[in-house]
Amino acid sequence: MLTSQLCTYASLTSPELEVWARRLRPMWDPDGGDSKPRLVHRKMWEWLFIAQALSERGMLAPGRRGLGFGVGREPLVALFAAQGCDVVATDLDPAGAGAAGWTASGAEYSGGVDGLNEHGLCPADEFARRVAFRHLDMNHLPEDLVEDLGEFDFTWSSCALEHLGSLRAGSDFVVGQMRFVRPGGVAVHTTEFNVSSDDRTVEDGGTVLFRGRDVEELARRLRRLGHRIVVDLRPGDAPEDRHVDVPPFSDTHLRTALGEFVTTSLGLIVERPTGAPVRPGRRWLGRGR
Ligand SMILES: C[S@@+](CC[C@H](N)C(=O)[O-])C[C@H]1O[C@@H](n2cnc3c(N)ncnc32)[C@H](O)[C@@H]1O
Repeated sequence: MLTSQLCTYASLTSPELEVWARRLRPMWDPDGGDSKPRLVHRKMWEWLFIAQALSERGMLAPGRRGLGFGVGREPLVALFAAQGCDVVATDLDPAGAGAAGWTASGAEYSGGVDGLNEHGLCPADEFARRVAFRHLDMNHLPEDLVEDLGEFDFTWSSCALEHLGSLRAGSDFVVGQMRFVRPGGVAVHTTEFNVSSDDRTVEDGGTVLFRGRDVEELARRLRRLGHRIVVDLRPGDAPEDRHVDVPPFSDTHLRTALGEFVTTSLGLIVERPTGAPVRPGRRWLGRGR
């Protein structure tokens, strides 16, 4: 089973993730002309990692309920709906997304269901039946969401929690959103990881970088609340893992440079135990509560 880990070439090319790369093929190879089995790209790894982490825990099955945060135009919403899941996809409202610069390119923000099945990963009628959309700010998790929609079998986000303004806000989000996960359910989130340093990093701003010590601190916080998280931060040792991709970008993009730091992706898997339901206390409900 996957644990919380870094993006590595070995993980990306594993048979388990390969299955999901094939399912996502209409998105990255729309003409079917590419002979490659996958993209060697950390964004691809993030999506495959989330899908596999949920699948091997029995979450991607008919009737399962999933909640996605900061979904942008990612393919996971349609992929999960195609597996029979009922999905609530969320993202900032257009004003908030515009102010934060997410609407400018048109490539990373949708703001509604349009654009979430553009590659036809899910039959249109099933997509319409199974997917709902809601505006939600990850920095202000709504108190009434569970009363409104019930708890979820799983939650996820890809490449979003590093954009909440600070490391603290990102960590608070991961802790706070666990109250939407039912006992026995799981949360899977991916974010930026600082490969260069366990000392200095970007702690505040538009994109923050988690260090190993931040991940360990977050894991301790989650465990204190009764959640299960296993962390393995071993970097890969393939040539693809050592390549730091800088503009003009190549076909191997598992690590890149952000300012003075080398970064890769981190996947977090947090399980809420069945037998030890966690009662949300005000301290961990999210930033500013
Ligand atoms: C880099 S994009 C990633 C989009 C998508 N998850 C993906 O993997 O392609 C970052 C996403 O996070 C969303 N986002 C940023 N800040 C947010 C916040 N405070 N609350 C909710 N979503 C946020 C943006 O609107 C955008 O959709």
